[in-house]
Amino acid sequence: MPNGSSYAAAKPRLRRDGGRVAMVVKQTSTFLLCARLARNWHRRVRFAPVSSSARAAGRRPAHWVGAESATAGCAVTVPLIERFRDRLPVTDATPVISLGEGSTPLLRASRLGERLGVDLWLKWEASNPTASYKDRGMTVAVSKALEDGARAVVCASTGNTSASAAAYAARAGVQAIVLVTESAARGKLIQARALGARVLAVRGTFDQALDAACRLVERGDHVLVNSLNPNRIAGRRTAVFEIVEELGGAPDAFVLPYGGGGNTTAYTKATAELGLGVSVHSVEAADRQRTLASAIRIERPAHAERVDASGARVHAVSDAEIVAAWLELAREEGLFCEPSSAAGLAFLRGSDELRGARVVVTITGHGLKDPGAADFHAPAPLVVDPDPDEIARVTE
Ligand code: F0G
Repeated sequence: MPNGSSYAAAKPRLRRDGGRVAMVVKQTSTFLLCARLARNWHRRVRFAPVSSSARAAGRRPAHWVGAESATAGCAVTVPLIERFRDRLPVTDATPVISLGEGSTPLLRASRLGERLGVDLWLKWEASNPTASYKDRGMTVAVSKALEDGARAVVCASTGNTSASAAAYAARAGVQAIVLVTESAARGKLIQARALGARVLAVRGTFDQALDAACRLVERGDHVLVNSLNPNRIAGRRTAVFEIVEELGGAPDAFVLPYGGGGNTTAYTKATAELGLGVSVHSVEAADRQRTLASAIRIERPAHAERVDASGARVHAVSDAEIVAAWLELAREEGLFCEPSSAAGLAFLRGSDELRGARVVVTITGHGLKDPGAADFHAPAPLVVDPDPDEIARVTE
């Protein structure tokens, strides 16, 4: 059964507290964000009056987010669709399928920024519910699919889209069929399998898997939740809205990885909508076919024409540059991402083009998604006896 409203499903997490109801906050980051945004909170969140008879029957409008919580002045994990409802293709009739996505941390990276000569900010998208930025578009795509009566969604994926589609489909009570490339990283495959998707490993490239998904959709029984679905792009735009809101203005540049180009399309669309004179730098793997960054191992980007027309600047980085940036992010800023997510920083490290600028680099997915890459590139543990002398000696 579809949940209808995510908050209907979240209800058991509420607890009574001195007569007020407080939402148990899942992530500290969300709490801190809420505190920062408290001043404008009422403008961002819509509260719908709930009649006493509806309340008694446990019925709430789809976009109800818990007026009691706000009155208590405490944090609540606001679904992305609620935070940006007025800028998304949803109506009151759209069931909100949410896992608490969006509102991710925007972290200043002072030391790294100083070394690179930029005012550097990192948008940590790995803190989304399935640990990648895909959830921004997926909440909108699956909510709309459910509104349209879909019973099954399908996607082709290098891994992250499949994990996200699996999670949101499970939340919505619809079937997810995911066509993954055989080289998809292990963590992503495990996510999709554990979340109950029908996981099919396609013999072939990502492009061939995407073609197959599109042809399946033509038969009429499935909704495509790849970024060719415009609802996915609509949801992804919200990263730009968040960044601009939280910085109190636009940065000079956005820098992000380029795989299929959906995210670049969304960022350029959002900056154009807001009328921002911001440059968007989209960073691809120099060897698209064979890069170790498996998430962006895509030979023919589905959005190539849109990216070309968007005014985004496209740059290429080598695998060695990606690995160096990836290790630096982990060791110097504490952000363990998957290799493809470090492509943006890899470009910044090798170029003077943005010197002196205020730059936001989007870090798209978590390092645990690709344990194989981490295992290969990070030092293995030394085996020691439980002996303080030995431990002190080897760590000197
Ligand atoms: N970063 C990560 C972690 C990704 O998973 C992807 C794409 C990208 C960057 C590239 O973004 O395609 O919008 O240009 N992953 C897709 C997938 C292809 O199937 O999960 P893009």
